[in-house]
Amino acid sequence: MKFWFAGLGLVAMMGAAPLLDAVAQTNLGAVVTERREGLKAAGENMTAVAAVARAGGDPRETVQRITAIQAWFATMGTRFPTGTQQGAPGLDTRALPAIWTDRAGFDAALTALGPRLVALREAAASGNVANFQAAVQATGAACGDCHRPFRAR
Ligand code: HEC
Repeated sequence: MKFWFAGLGLVAMMGAAPLLDAVAQTNLGAVVTERREGLKAAGENMTAVAAVARAGGDPRETVQRITAIQAWFATMGTRFPTGTQQGAPGLDTRALPAIWTDRAGFDAALTALGPRLVALREAAASGNVANFQAAVQATGAACGDCHRPFRAR
């Protein structure tokens, strides 16, 4: 990290503004790629969890997937740096500008998901199918509560 900043400093001193822009953009591109891959994996885990709920299967099988979803969302708040909204040059993202104009709303939607995932994991670990099914519904609703205002279709 230190090295990276030092590198940028050197580039700036050389007056290579276009190169500096390119470096910054490459880093934002990497942030978006990582963010989308992580969300895709979380989505796949959630789809698999929901399939067990629909089939009335053993909820305990899903505990590991839920733990993985929790681990991802623990870092979610750090993955939306300025300049990574939909429409930014060179970026392929569905993150709406509303995330940056209503950061408090975005953070609230993210915070609301945490306890839903905790409850989902507890319900899964308990093996109680009805509780698990209800918790899957509640979790899915929390995902949607953020997607509606903050993710492009
Ligand atoms: C706090 C807001 C927020 C919450 C909560 C949230 N998401 Fe998202 N999600 C987003 C945003 C913003 C994007 C678009 C990211 C991008 O394209 O850069 C996204 C994108 C996705 C994608 C598409 C990834 C891709 O292939 O590009 C999936 C799948 C997804 N979310 C699943 C989920 C699931 C499942 C949950 C609930 C467990 C959830 N999300 C909760 C904001 C959220």
